[in-house]
Amino acid sequence: PHRRLGRVSPTPAPRDRPRRLRDTPAMRRLVSETRLDPADLVLPIFVREGAAAPLPIASMPGVVQHSLESLPGAVTDAAAAGLGGVMLFGVPEQRDARGSGATDPEGILNVATRVAADAADGALVVQTDLCLDEFTDHGHCGVLDMLGRVDNDATLERYQEMAIVQAASGSQLLGLSGMMDGQVAAVREALDGSGFSNTPILAYSAKYASAFYGPFRDAIESTLEGDRRTYQLDPGNRREGLREALIDIDEGADIVMVKPAGSYLDVLADISAASVVPVWAYQVSGEYAMIEAAAAHGWIDRKRAVIETVRGIRRAGADAVLTYWALELADWIRKGD
Ligand code: PBG
Repeated sequence: PHRRLGRVSPTPAPRDRPRRLRDTPAMRRLVSETRLDPADLVLPIFVREGAAAPLPIASMPGVVQHSLESLPGAVTDAAAAGLGGVMLFGVPEQRDARGSGATDPEGILNVATRVAADAADGALVVQTDLCLDEFTDHGHCGVLDMLGRVDNDATLERYQEMAIVQAASGSQLLGLSGMMDGQVAAVREALDGSGFSNTPILAYSAKYASAFYGPFRDAIESTLEGDRRTYQLDPGNRREGLREALIDIDEGADIVMVKPAGSYLDVLADISAASVVPVWAYQVSGEYAMIEAAAAHGWIDRKRAVIETVRGIRRAGADAVLTYWALELADWIRKGD
């Protein structure tokens, strides 16, 4: 049988028309699978010892190192915006080999924790970074052995001491970001043995050795030379990210985290599918700086890019997101933007 010349067969009408659900803003809003809520956002806050006023961070436009005086206002602003929490980082004036400032009750992070907990007054969760890198003169996340390598088990003892001081200072969630083996179990044991069995642990489980921490290292005035590849994960490893999360959950982590977020959405999805505890993600300083820089050049729509990246992180499986845009994003969400 041949086709008759000159006759065009009618275009078949599509049976499936997914566009029906995209036709109006109201319909799109109704069928959206991923909503953003200020309660699922955590704002990282830097507090600098000796600062008289907030100091700008060049590589993170719009982010500052707070002074102890400006900190309470930052915390109450975060609470007023409906954020889920704040994550505190200390920038000390003095550093030494063992990171003494981290375990000194008068060290900047511990003082800031008391100030923040007081200002928050239960309206949001005050969290602290539990890691030595801000306090060591060599800039590593742990103490070093005689050959200059990061000494895992000696570091665990420092983390245990830090945990107790932070909990006693009023931290309501300890963010273990050092990537030492056994850190969750060690800290859990120390907390339980010191009357802090109710203080929860957020394990930065799948923390990759990433170029995207660059601006953060400016923010904390890091002195690190070299890199963290002997303890942070290799960016090529997906399965290992899941393994780290499963180990941390087994050791007693109350929440696990993936970091950075945007380049590790597959790891986030894997962990989210396997986890029996909440899974968070950290949209890190370099992810922030990239969008800010492109937007400053007029090369990207800043607001849309911010919303899209955070939604993408939530869609991939994050229950909550640490982001430097938390305040502004909460404002946009509230206004229905
Ligand atoms: C370690 C820590 C780092 C970040 C949070 N906690 C940096 C690192 O591992 O070098 C990075 C956060 C960011 O880049 O926004 N204490």
